[in-house]
Amino acid sequence: MPVDRGSAAGVQGSSGRAASGHRHCRRGGDGSVTPVQPKVLVVGGGSMGGALARGLLAAHWRPADIVIVEPSPDRRTALAALFPGVVVETEPRDADGAVLAVKPVDAEAACRSVAATRCRRVLSIMAGVTVTRLESWLAPSSAVLRAMPNTPATVGAGVSALAAGSTASGPDIAWAEEVLGAVGDVVRVPEESLDAVTGLSGSGPAYVFLVTEALVAAGQSAGLSPEVSRRLAVGTVAGAGRLLAESGEPPERLRAQVTSPGGTTEAGLRVLEERGLREALAAAVVAATERSRELGA
Ligand SMILES: NC(=O)c1ccc[n+]([C@@H]2O[C@H](COP(=O)([O-])OP(=O)(O)OC[C@H]3O[C@@H](n4cnc5c(N)ncnc54)[C@H](OP(=O)(O)O)[C@@H]3O)[C@@H](O)[C@H]2O)c1
Repeated sequence: MPVDRGSAAGVQGSSGRAASGHRHCRRGGDGSVTPVQPKVLVVGGGSMGGALARGLLAAHWRPADIVIVEPSPDRRTALAALFPGVVVETEPRDADGAVLAVKPVDAEAACRSVAATRCRRVLSIMAGVTVTRLESWLAPSSAVLRAMPNTPATVGAGVSALAAGSTASGPDIAWAEEVLGAVGDVVRVPEESLDAVTGLSGSGPAYVFLVTEALVAAGQSAGLSPEVSRRLAVGTVAGAGRLLAESGEPPERLRAQVTSPGGTTEAGLRVLEERGLREALAAAVVAATERSRELGA
């Protein structure tokens, strides 16, 4: 997804770098924002943190609305070059809310650094770190939310499941939905569903990549060249996904539309049903869900 550098360029002079002191981070009930402080502090400028910044800029957030905290000097230099006008720092500062986009092993340090600011709205995208654990490291008055995005977020085509902690209010949830909405669709779930979300949409892109690999190999076995087979398989998976998303039709209807009685697709689908594709996918989601539970325990 391209970064909207046009809208970014117009406000580079007001990047907020001069206003680096700790200002009040409001989480009042009216949902409005305080213009003098950034709207989001992205803690961790890696793959997901960078994707969020890219998505927010493409969604016409001003660079001055975004601050990225990243310990690696090389990564900071790269982020500053990628996102002109976005402040990239070593330590958190006040903002309307913080997104924790660090590895789970760095969760406590990241929480404690945010607790040292006046930021009291915190959205974690870390796998397996519970609201209870996050709350134990954050300031007592923090509103905590958790989300599980997936890798297509890096191209603005993710889907995230959002779970609100008990102290998160309507405006906190709206803020989190706006942030996550910049990199794709957002669904709301209770926190206890996040392991199943991980098993389905978190790990799901890898299932689809495996299916794509298998189709590439199958095309070659059927006599196509590796390059032709790869282009056909990748184009088919990408196109089918886009058709699903853009048509709004349920998958079973789209499948029925391309399956003529006695035709080629029916012959192929029959083999997939007989060989247990549905059962295999169901077992994969169960296994990934259980593994997510184990890792978070
Ligand atoms: N990638 C995905 O598709 C995906 C999907 C769903 C959820 N998630 C979750 O998203 C989180 C981030 O994943 P990622 O793939 O973006 O990881 P990543 O590329 O490793 O990025 C994490 C970044 O945070 C930095 N960091 C470490 N400690 C920090 C601290 N205390 N303060 C600020 N920054 C700190 C790291 O710097 P150093 O490298 O120098 O330590 C690194 O640049 C993970 O918890 C993961 O579970 C990822």
